[in-house]
Amino acid sequence: MNDVFSAADRAAFYRVIERRRDVRAFKTDPIPEDVLRRILTAAHHGPSVGFMQPWDFIVVRDRAARARIKDAFLRENQKAAQHYTGERGTLYASLKLEGIDEAPINLCVTCDRTRGGPHVLGRNTILDADLYSTCCAIQNLWLAARVEGVGVGWVSILTEDDLRAVLGIPPHVLPVAYLCLGYAREFLDEPELQQRGWARRLTVDRVIHQDHWSS
Ligand SMILES: Cc1cc2nc3c(=O)[nH]c(=O)nc-3n(C[C@H](O)[C@H](O)[C@H](O)COP(=O)(O)O)c2cc1C
Repeated sequence: MNDVFSAADRAAFYRVIERRRDVRAFKTDPIPEDVLRRILTAAHHGPSVGFMQPWDFIVVRDRAARARIKDAFLRENQKAAQHYTGERGTLYASLKLEGIDEAPINLCVTCDRTRGGPHVLGRNTILDADLYSTCCAIQNLWLAARVEGVGVGWVSILTEDDLRAVLGIPPHVLPVAYLCLGYAREFLDEPELQQRGWARRLTVDRVIHQDHWSS
């Protein structure tokens, strides 16, 4: 297929990228199965080293499992909070950093480090290329969810051990992302961390280098 994308297609594509947000406040409406399937299929169409497709998606609806993961988050977040004091500490404590309970669906995206056998094409030198591939799938998922009106929030304040224990993930499989999915209450115009004064987007010029590293 040699698709040519129209100006409108291109504009829509860039708008989706610009309007994607990390979402942590959800409506209670369930995500229909066909919508979830489209989102997961988009993820599954991500690029992967040697076409390894190392990802799996654990859809977590079980309330008891989610309660255990929420407890694990609260414990880890208490530790993280100790790094901030004064105004920064107050701001940190006021940030909502997960939507584990409210989201109709939680999703753990994993990376099977053994998939495709010991010699995956292109993965001889950089073994972590399977993890990078899994992150590509997650970004596809995040963008597909956005066009469906579904918000995605990545919760990284969790230990691998907790996720393994609750979700029964075997040792050769790494939990890469724990995501909360649901119809978004709103998609903010800018990252919440920017809106709340925690961090600012760098200019694109700041991160583009020509020919060699320049500071
Ligand atoms: C690997 C990764 C881990 C993240 N972990 C968390 C998290 O634990 N809690 C949270 O509230 N947001 C988390 N985020 C979301 C970021 O804070 C968010 O992407 C960033 O502030 C930019 O905002 P935007 O995604 O709305 O553009 C994570 C994002 C990534 C890519």
